[in-house]
Amino acid sequence: MNRFETLKLSLPIIQGGMGIGVSLGNLAGSVAAQGGMGVISTANPGYAYPDFWKDPAGCNLEALRFHVKKAKQLAKGQGAVAINAMVATTRYAETVAAAIQSGVDAIISGAGLPLTLPAVEGAEQVALAPIVSGGRAITTICKLWDKRFGRVPDFVVVEGSQAGGHLGFSKEEVLSGTAKPLKELVREVCQALEPWQQKYSRKIPVFAAGGVFDGADIAEMERNGATGAQIATRFIATEECDASEGYKQAMIRAKAEDVRIVQSPVGMPGRALASPLIQRLSQGGRIAPVRCANCLVHCQPSQTPYCITHALIEAVKGNWEEGLFFCGSNVGKIQQMTTVPALMQRLSQEWKRAKQ
Ligand SMILES: Cc1cc2nc3c(=O)[nH]c(=O)nc-3n(C[C@H](O)[C@H](O)[C@H](O)COP(=O)(O)O)c2cc1C
Repeated sequence: MNRFETLKLSLPIIQGGMGIGVSLGNLAGSVAAQGGMGVISTANPGYAYPDFWKDPAGCNLEALRFHVKKAKQLAKGQGAVAINAMVATTRYAETVAAAIQSGVDAIISGAGLPLTLPAVEGAEQVALAPIVSGGRAITTICKLWDKRFGRVPDFVVVEGSQAGGHLGFSKEEVLSGTAKPLKELVREVCQALEPWQQKYSRKIPVFAAGGVFDGADIAEMERNGATGAQIATRFIATEECDASEGYKQAMIRAKAEDVRIVQSPVGMPGRALASPLIQRLSQGGRIAPVRCANCLVHCQPSQTPYCITHALIEAVKGNWEEGLFFCGSNVGKIQQMTTVPALMQRLSQEWKRAKQ
């Protein structure tokens, strides 16, 4: 069954999932309405509920259902609505199952290898896509999914070292520039997928993520074998983005030299703006959590250098002093606020021109 073909994408653009709260129903639905794939982040979507710190699990499930429905309504039958679920989070299977029940079209999953994703209740109804950082990871996933579930991914996101948020590379690789360039990763993943495309007699589309900024970048990824691109940071400076005005303005103000690589309690490096929080942590400070939402499988509140959930919630609310402002390496290129229809139209025109 070719589940990717059933998605109504008129543009090969996925708006990357952005947690916490940066991509929820409004952004995702607006992108889908333009024929792309809008993605809701499942990282604590209930953060703004008054009872969030008392009952994070309950608030998150309620918020997720609300945002999936909102996005589907805004999409008006166009494009596709997906969730981004991180393997490193607690309640992973329950969250994915709730999104499927609420009517999401696809599940995109990374921050670890989503080895058990096809076993989630309802997974046969939707398109499944792992996020990988190279050929080895996608081969491992395909072998295991094929053997255990008789299924391979419906599409794949390849994320390179220029992405925002958590990165699937070591801090050294990112800082020294030795991580492979995105187009090389795209070629590697396309090659690794070949035997599986043959075995299942269908194409497994690959989307390139991390530092893709304009239509010419999308066309370049296509020339290297990708079907399209996943773009995140650029969507933050849109009126429809679910983050506060403060977050959006921080992205518009940022220059290339304001970007830092930080160590995240998730156990991976991350890319973010040099905010006061980052400066305090880089001086060796520890900001002990005052409360815990039990959101990450491997987080130890007694030892973590800071609570990433608190820091990301403060960021999405626009608190420059305490927030962790995730962004991609291209944030310095963003000059002004726009709207999702204007951005999608621009990307589409640039992409078509670059293909000629
Ligand atoms: C603010 C922000 C939050 C993000 N949160 C997540 C997340 O929760 N899960 C995830 O898999 N990727 C996350 N990402 C990565 C994006 O989905 C995307 O793949 C990547 O940023 C693409 O690169 P670009 O921002 O240069 O376009 C995040 C990125 C940003 C900028």
